[in-house]
Amino acid sequence: MKGFMDNLKKKAKELNRRIVFPESEDERILKAVEIIKKKRFAVPILIGNPEEVQKKAKELKVKLDGIEIHDPKNFPDYEAWAKQLYEQRKNKGMSLEDAHKTLQDYTYFATMMVHMGKADGFVSGATHPTGDTLRPALQIIKTHEKFHKVSSFFIMLLKDKLLIFADCAVEIEPDAKDLAEIAVDTVRTAKKFGIEPRVAMLSFSTAGSAKHPLVDKVKEATAIAKDKLPDVIVEGDIQVDAALVPHICDKKYPGSKLKGDANVLIFPDLNSGNIAYKLVERLAGAMAIGPILQGLKKPVNDLSRGCSVQDVVDVAVITAVSGE
Ligand code: ACO
Repeated sequence: MKGFMDNLKKKAKELNRRIVFPESEDERILKAVEIIKKKRFAVPILIGNPEEVQKKAKELKVKLDGIEIHDPKNFPDYEAWAKQLYEQRKNKGMSLEDAHKTLQDYTYFATMMVHMGKADGFVSGATHPTGDTLRPALQIIKTHEKFHKVSSFFIMLLKDKLLIFADCAVEIEPDAKDLAEIAVDTVRTAKKFGIEPRVAMLSFSTAGSAKHPLVDKVKEATAIAKDKLPDVIVEGDIQVDAALVPHICDKKYPGSKLKGDANVLIFPDLNSGNIAYKLVERLAGAMAIGPILQGLKKPVNDLSRGCSVQDVVDVAVITAVSGE
């Protein structure tokens, strides 16, 4: 499975994207940025006070030579961007003064850099909760299509298997239409990463074995997703054991096209998705790469606050490649 990340790294090197990191106060970010620059996975950009960042880097023996470090207040486009932000958010009650204050927040500034095309993507979340990373992107960068919801997925690398889990980080309580959208976007993303998707719409029921409104939601979502993905195997309602184990699938879901070999698992809500990915990561030793956001106009990705330096590098590589 190491080959999967190696291929993405090769692609990232070719693309040479500009990726911005607003959390320059975090030592994992500084160490990751040094690696990203050295290995040429992307052109990293840091947001922060250049003297303070360099001082911290020196203490950590991290070399930031040649890496751009921008302090929002001294950035040449700061005034123009504050006006732009105000124009974009004034109907939501933002004043010009608010826009100036907001833009001094490093996450908002990094978001604006991506929005205005001065960077190709951003990675944050090592020190901020998910909501604080996502909100600026949802407010400023916005979605590909109007009324389309942003969701996320994890690439779960097991010893002998690669699985995609969605949504484990963003949409708390998707309805049937939202759930179908998560499946459709995840299929699109899986294909972008060279994965041939076989989708299981997970439930506590298999092929109607249980009757409950929560099962009906998954059935309805499956019908919508199938309609939108005529060339992809999408099955549900299905329990996770039937989705992943051929002989259990034979028993519980005769005639299944997945045949217990799903590689894209769509969870019915954020409780199940978030708990599942953490269980597989912690108990099965999977490497969990993500959450990778989907549905936004530009690539923005969140880190877990428990992330390692390697996680930051991997998410930056995925961010660089996602802009394709
Ligand atoms: N897709 C598209 N736009 C959205 C979405 C979405 N899924 N959710 C909110 N928005 C938009 C809103 O329309 C709004 O836009 P506007 O201001 O231009 O009108 C803007 O984003 C802000 O919306 P709010 O509802 O005010 O934002 P809120 O902060 O309440 O919700 C958030 C967004 C943060 C993503 C929320 O859904 C959330 O908290 N999700 C769970 C995050 C989380 O805690 N995950 C688990 C941990 S992650 C981990 O373990 C790796």
